Amino acid sequence: MRTIFVTGGAGFIGSAFIHLILETTTDVEIVDFDALTYAGNPENLKGLDPARHRFVKGDICDKAAVLDALPDGAEAVFNFAAESHVDRSISSAGEFVLTNVLGTQVLLDAARAKKVKRFVQISTDEVMGSLPDDSNLYFTELSPLKPNSPYAASKAAAEHFVRAARETFGLDTVITRCGNNYGPRQFPEKLIPLMIANAMNDEPLPVYGDGRNVRDWIYVEDHARAIWLACERGRAGEIYNIGARNEQYNIDVVKTILDILGKPHSLIKFVADRLGHDRRYAIEADKTENELGWRPLTSWEDGLRRTIDWYRENQAWVDHIRNGAYRDYYRKMYGELS
Ligand code: NAD
Ligand code: DAU
Repeated sequence: MRTIFVTGGAGFIGSAFIHLILETTTDVEIVDFDALTYAGNPENLKGLDPARHRFVKGDICDKAAVLDALPDGAEAVFNFAAESHVDRSISSAGEFVLTNVLGTQVLLDAARAKKVKRFVQISTDEVMGSLPDDSNLYFTELSPLKPNSPYAASKAAAEHFVRAARETFGLDTVITRCGNNYGPRQFPEKLIPLMIANAMNDEPLPVYGDGRNVRDWIYVEDHARAIWLACERGRAGEIYNIGARNEQYNIDVVKTILDILGKPHSLIKFVADRLGHDRRYAIEADKTENELGWRPLTSWEDGLRRTIDWYRENQAWVDHIRNGAYRDYYRKMYGELS
């Protein structure tokens, strides 16, 4: 058995990664280390084989807890744990610096101490800033880091520490940078699940600004598979951009969701724009496709339908979140919309 250490495994992408690895391998066991913040949800880990999945509740900033949980000579650390929502980073950036920057450094130190074979940092296209509207410019692995939000700045800082661990101490590291993920189990503060949940409840759908910002969407399982391949086949010290060549205007995403759910476009409500709102993300994934032999397998149409079906079939999962602290968050963020 090969042991991997996954942080943030109770979140959206981390849990998709764990489900995928347990389903598609037979020789991998997972230690899943997660602080269970508002975004971490034990329900995301239901049904996993306890012989191959061990959950440890802990904070990646807690050096002793990390050292205690991280097995000696582990095959790899996959660092998914993060504060991940841009709007929350605009309201309060402190937690982002702690988890995303300090937490990553704690993990890098622990990986060296425990002689971990490879460290995989799950990063984001947002570290490269924003592309001009309707241009034919794309993010590549050589694009400069130009983060615009506090979230993106914290993820860019984390990348620098990963690079420093490689250059200074020779730690075997790989960084992956992906665009916007969608799929089952995404916390309904992010665009797609928020719009699905509101539409299902006949509540207004808040679209920021003119709705013409562009995001490059990828189905979460495709992202998870690329991360695994980056660990298995990627070259040490390299960065791999992950994207499905699927640029969409926000307003089109929202209208498509309403159409699939059979709800009226009159539910759309344009609201004040996000501060410093990045206009366009678009990823060139040639290096990842060529070096790792990866391709996205899920089309936008299939992925979105599958996602909407999942939220329809898991209304209790959504209600559980919407009945908790999320209510206060929503009120502070959006006020009374109707
Ligand atoms: P998420 O917010 O759904 O989950 C984050 C998880 O990390 C939660 O389970 C939370 O409990 C855990 N966590 C937070 N702080 C922690 C701490 N201090 N110690 C231990 N665990 C902690 O996030 P996500 O959308 O699944 O994103 C996962 C990773 O992928 C993040 O690093 C994010 O930057 C990156 N990423 C996300 C996207 C996207 O579209 N969501 C795209 C590219 C990259
Ligand atoms: O690109 C990768 C990044 O994608 C990840 O690194 C982040 O963790 C992830 O949160 C996501 O960031 P975005 O800011 O792009 O995602 P979000 O879902 O918050 O917003 C997507 C777009 O939709 C963005 O242009 C803002 C807009 N939006 C969002 C919300 C929540 C709205 O118009 N209304 C909303 O209510």
